[in-house]
Amino acid sequence: MTQELVLIVDFGSQYAQLIARRVRELNVFCQIVRHDLPASRFAELKPKGIIFSGSPSSVYDEKAPKIDPGVFALNVPILGICYGLQMYCHMLGGSVGKAAAREYGRAPIHVTNPDKLLAGVPKETIVWMSHGDQVQNVNNDFETLAHTETCPLAAVKHRTKPFYGIQFHPEVSHTPEGGRILRNFLHDVCGCEGLWRISTFIDRTIAEMKAKIGDKRVICGLSGGVDSSVVAALLLKAVGPQVACIFVDNGLLREGESDSVKHTFRDWFNADLHVADASERFLSALAGVTDPQVKRKIIGREFIEVFKQEAKSIPNAKFLAQGTLYPDVIESGGAVDGPAATIKAHHNVGGLPKELGFDLVEPLRDLFKDEVRRLGTELGLPDSVVWRHPFPGPGLSVRCLGAVTSEKLDVLRKCDVIFLEELQAAGWYRKTGQAFAVILPVQSVGVMGDERTYESVVALRAVETEDFMTADWSRLPTDLLARVSTRIINEVRGVNRVVYDISSKPPATIEWE
Ligand code: XMP
Repeated sequence: MTQELVLIVDFGSQYAQLIARRVRELNVFCQIVRHDLPASRFAELKPKGIIFSGSPSSVYDEKAPKIDPGVFALNVPILGICYGLQMYCHMLGGSVGKAAAREYGRAPIHVTNPDKLLAGVPKETIVWMSHGDQVQNVNNDFETLAHTETCPLAAVKHRTKPFYGIQFHPEVSHTPEGGRILRNFLHDVCGCEGLWRISTFIDRTIAEMKAKIGDKRVICGLSGGVDSSVVAALLLKAVGPQVACIFVDNGLLREGESDSVKHTFRDWFNADLHVADASERFLSALAGVTDPQVKRKIIGREFIEVFKQEAKSIPNAKFLAQGTLYPDVIESGGAVDGPAATIKAHHNVGGLPKELGFDLVEPLRDLFKDEVRRLGTELGLPDSVVWRHPFPGPGLSVRCLGAVTSEKLDVLRKCDVIFLEELQAAGWYRKTGQAFAVILPVQSVGVMGDERTYESVVALRAVETEDFMTADWSRLPTDLLARVSTRIINEVRGVNRVVYDISSKPPATIEWE
């Protein structure tokens, strides 16, 4: 889709997507591809460079993933990372064995010959290692660029071909020079100019959408989140009057959410916005339901019904626009040339079925979340939308533990808004990946004035995360937590105790249900 393409070959590494994000941050467009693609396909894609990811395998495993050796004959620059390095050194005649000491974590590295790859990297620096095997011997074809105390070949270069390899991980933030090393590879070894820009993406995508949609009508489902808002903003720019946005108010939204969607899209973007107020329908379908997965199923089912009904009021709609992102495409195995589906421990049962009969428009299929945010800003969406924390499809129902009632939802909304307001005021909102309140299905004893109380407990959850697959609890300042707790207990009737969740994911999840 763009002039400069770099391919990240996925050998099963947990870091393949992170490598891709780092490459995109350096303004080079890249895609993740399966390791078993034939060399002829690599040749067709005309990459400027190829990066081999790491892998949990050892090159001596019976089913160790390997690259088609024809790829080496293409003479395209290669950077092997960790297993990627071991695999190709092994294929090219080097030997790989168990390291004397497994290396996990930060390690000091000594650069002996910077060459192009390590140009500008200090002679002594820190890198992130995570390996049991390592390359022990390379035949005369390779030369050493750097070593650590236990890893003699921490960075190598082929003597005659543009092939490099590093045993450490440049993509993680614990390798401070990692960005420079990737940049050196992309710019100085591959000759990339760094032409990937969100603004050019906008122009190209708008042209593509215009061509695809023609003069037909298109429906865009809005959730209030950044992805669907960006899709809507793109569509409105491309084929404005043909777009109808549907927003389903399921009564499980946060304080002010419905109004903010109306304000942004009806008032600001002047969009044809259809709001389906279905709060009562969802609440009665959920009455008495305590099992989280059953809640999700009910909400998914009701959502489809309400959406279908609302879509009927938009005649001649042929297309449905969705905010599917690149990680979803990769993880569901839906990318052309991409890796097979990974089993994602995710409980999302939402989404609209194919039977609705629309053709899909998915303009964000190639983008990561941070790129979508940049796109949103460029399209003029307000910061409050662009930087909004993700919110689960089943909404507050999975934060209202046990049976959902409108009274509990009211309490939860009030607590949630206080927490978010205080995070914003203290400059902590953007530092957390997700933050929210949860109302627990227990009552606790307290005293207020001279009265004994027996009221609800509210838990606060705030996490820092890169990808929502793992997360650490946010170390919020205690005075901030104190302010939130005092305000909640003083301002929200029915709550007499506030607790802070200090569990990381794994083993806990971000949501409580
Ligand atoms: P967990 O709780 O699995 O959440 O650590 C990871 C991320 O996914 C969101 N989440 C959901 N999103 N439907 C969604 O659309 C769901 O059923 C759902 N459950 C969790 C959660 O908010 C977090 O961002």
